[in-house]
This record gives sequence, C-alpha cells and structure tokens, in this order.
Amino acid sequence: KKTQNQMLIIFGASGDLTARKLVPAIYNLYKGKHLPENFVVLGASRSAMTDEEFRQKVVQESEFLKDKISKEGKDFIADFAEKIFYEDLGDNYDTKYTGLSKRIQQLNEEKGCEENYIFYLSTPPSLYEVIAKNLCEAGLTQEEKGWKRIIVEKPFGYSLATAKELNEGLHKYFKEPQVYRIDHYLGKETVQNLLVTRFSNSIFEPTWNRRYIHHVEITNAETVGVEKRGGYYDKSGALRDMFQSHLLQVVSLIVMEPPINSSAEEIRDEKVKALKSLRIMTSDEELANHTMKGQYVASTINGKKVKGYREEEGVNPDSKTETFAAVKFFVDNWRWKDVPFYVRTAKYMPTKVTEVVIHFKSPAHEVFKSQDVYKKDNKLIIRIQPDEGILIKFGVKVPGLGFNVEQANMDFYYSDLDSAEIMDAYERLLLDAMQGDATLYARADEVEAAWKFVDPILKYWENEDVPTYGYAAGTWGPRNSDDMFEGHFGWRNPGNR
Ligand code: BG6
Repeated sequence: KKTQNQMLIIFGASGDLTARKLVPAIYNLYKGKHLPENFVVLGASRSAMTDEEFRQKVVQESEFLKDKISKEGKDFIADFAEKIFYEDLGDNYDTKYTGLSKRIQQLNEEKGCEENYIFYLSTPPSLYEVIAKNLCEAGLTQEEKGWKRIIVEKPFGYSLATAKELNEGLHKYFKEPQVYRIDHYLGKETVQNLLVTRFSNSIFEPTWNRRYIHHVEITNAETVGVEKRGGYYDKSGALRDMFQSHLLQVVSLIVMEPPINSSAEEIRDEKVKALKSLRIMTSDEELANHTMKGQYVASTINGKKVKGYREEEGVNPDSKTETFAAVKFFVDNWRWKDVPFYVRTAKYMPTKVTEVVIHFKSPAHEVFKSQDVYKKDNKLIIRIQPDEGILIKFGVKVPGLGFNVEQANMDFYYSDLDSAEIMDAYERLLLDAMQGDATLYARADEVEAAWKFVDPILKYWENEDVPTYGYAAGTWGPRNSDDMFEGHFGWRNPGNR
C-alpha cells in the first residue's frame, strides 16, 4: 500500500505516550523505510518548548530511543529527529489555533506534506470535541486538497451515554471514516492472527460453534499493580480499563461470523453484529452469579512488600474500584447459544499472560475411559502474550499396556519464525492510519455496542452491597472466583497448561 506524504500532529505531546509509544513506533517505521518521503511530526501541548527541547525530552524519556542511540549512533537518530517539531498551544486547548495553524501551513509548504494531516489526540477524552471544534474553526479539517484524519485514544467514554456524546461531538467536525479510535490490542500480531487462524484454515471453522465447543475462556493477567496511574485507574477500574475495550475486541473476533471479504467495513460490520449478540445481563441474580470484582491487598511478592490498592497514590482509601474483574456471559445467536464465555482481567497476578482458550466438548461417546476429562479434552490455546503462539492439546495413547490417554501438544510459536520480530502494536496501527486503513480501529457503533453490554454490570457494581473481594497481591484473585469459573477449569494456571 502507498503511504502519501503527510504530517502527524500529536496533541498532548508532552505526555508520556509520545515518548513511550508514539515516537518509538515512528522511529521503527522510519528505520523500516515505511515512512513517505515527506513526513513531519508536530507535537503540540500546553508546555512551552522549542523544537530542540521537545526532541531532547522525547529522547530523555524514552528508554527505547536511548538504547537506539547507543546502537545506531547519534547521527542516525539526529537525522530522524529532524522530522520532529513542536508548537506550544498556550494555557488551554480551548483557544483559537492561530499559531498552530500557521505553523502547520508553514511546515506543510516547506516539507511538502500535501495538506494530508493526521491529528492524534493523546489527551483526556473530555478534550476531544473541543480540539475537533478548534481545528475546524482554524480551517484545518477541510479536505479540499489533502485528506484529514483524527486518531483518538482510549478510554473512549466512561459509559454508553458518554461514549455516545463523544461520538456525536466528533461527528460534528469529522465524518466517521475520518475517525480512528485506537485500541492497541487490535495492533497485536496475535490478535490479528485470530482472524487468520479462523478464516484461512478449513479445519477450525467447522468446529467453531456450540456443537463442538464447550466453553471459551479469556484471561488477561498482569504481574504489575496500578503503578503510577492510581488517579486515572481509580475512576476507571478493570472493567472499563481492559474489559470494555481490549477484551471485548478479542471476544468479537472469536464470536464473529466470517466476513465476506477483508475490507474494513465488512470486518467491522461482523464485529458489531457479534457484540450486539452478547446477552445483556438484566437481573440482579444473574449479575451476582456471573460477575465478580476484587481488589488487591498488601502482600509480599518474592520477598518484596507491595502496597495494597487502597494505599496506592491517587487512590481513594475507601475505594471500591476493582483491580480484578471476572464476567461469565452467553452469546445469543445461532452459533453460540448456551456456550459460556469466561473472561477475566486482573492486576498483580502470579504470571503475566493474555490468552484465549477454546475448550472443545468431550467426544460424544467415550470409548477410552479416563479419570481426568480435563486432561483429555481438546483445547486450542491462542497465546496473545508473552510467548506469542498457538497450541493445540489433544489426547494420545500413553505407551504401554491398556489404552491410557494423556495430552500432547502441537504448538507454533512466533519466535520459531525466521522473521520473528513482532511489530509493536502502535507501529502497525499508526501505519494503517497513515495509509487510510481503518480495519484495526474501532468504529462508532462497535464502541457503543461494547458499552451497552458493560453498562449494566458497572451499574450493578455501584450498589453498596455488591462485595469487592480482597485478594493478596501475587495470588490468583479472590478465592471464591473459582466457583464462578465452575471449579473444574484449569484457569488458575494459565500459561502453563
Ligand atoms: C492499557 C491499560 O490500555 O492496557 C493498562 O490502560 C494495561 O492498565 C494495558 O496494563 C495492558 O496492555 P498490554 O499490551 O501490556 O497487555
């Protein structure tokens, strides 16, 4: 695909995302010769800085770039840095973008960006509409000559109502095809591989349904706590932070029907349909039995003391915000009727792993009796991270007398490939937006469908009498969550099945 000459304007450029993710991603695109001939990055935020100070700051704050300087040499990085500029917006994002507009025009002419602009909003969502409005009033959104696109970060909303407001706000100034809602999980190689595994093989799809699948389990376990993001996290919680966005995106790729082709609209139409078919929980009884929240408490991990969530900086000492969320749900459609989905996400777990496990049903008639069904049933494990890969578990005969069954593995790891280097999610997603491909970005109706499913759970969790179970940091979460996962599943030991 061709990448046209263009300018990337980053709002909130003094924040940590620019140094941590965006500039390293752009650097890799530069190194891989994926950038167009004429390309400019213009950082914009409220801090006063010169171009040179901004370049220095980005390097100082990025372990990645510091490492590159030692490997590639200063000159190489200096060449790259010449593509980066900075413009101070003054005290407030809600102001006339006169200075910004002049700077954009000047850089556009000098560097030949052909009036193709991407506005990347790395700011709180409350500023999305304001920024869009001011860009429009400064005449920067018109597509008379070049194209204009806008990328917005998550969290996209706080609830269904706020997500709708954000969509309406953006749609006043940008048409939906110009809006790119980033969800970095869609930039992950292994998440994209869900589509390829399903739709480019003939052996999986025939069994990908309620006749053969017993249940689906999706786990996101992190070994870190909320780190320095207590202030943000306390208003969000695991359900908003991970489940509504990243994990429901993964769910939609598992649940969706085959699209008629690989175009952005066809794939996203199917994903929306999938999200709309998740059964929305309405009764308190269902919500009580099928959802659970927990919060880590102080503990010692490998001899090191770690704070409890409520002691973290920026967190309310009486907070009920969850750092562990587990949800069991069903999908009301022809393919998935009555197949339970178990999804969980949590901070401070014993292992870092994100994976999908498709558990197949036992054979209809058991010829070889085995005491431990779990050890025999087929499983397809899609390891999103780390050790990215796919594993199939199947029963084989134990050598020797009788017909004893054990599980064997067939596996594929990305690290086995010659071209094993996995692109960072931001690199892939940025390049897609630069080329005008929105397949891996969430569409307005998709985000709203996800919120529609999540809203009743959040609402229920606000009730005073819904417990927030404590769990010791470094353990597998509240003990009674085993019951929710219906005991017999090996969910306590993901990544090591
Ligand atoms: C972010 C969340 O979107 O995703 C974080 O805000 C979380 O809380 C992170 O840690 C997980 O991303 P990854 O790529 O490390 O799985």
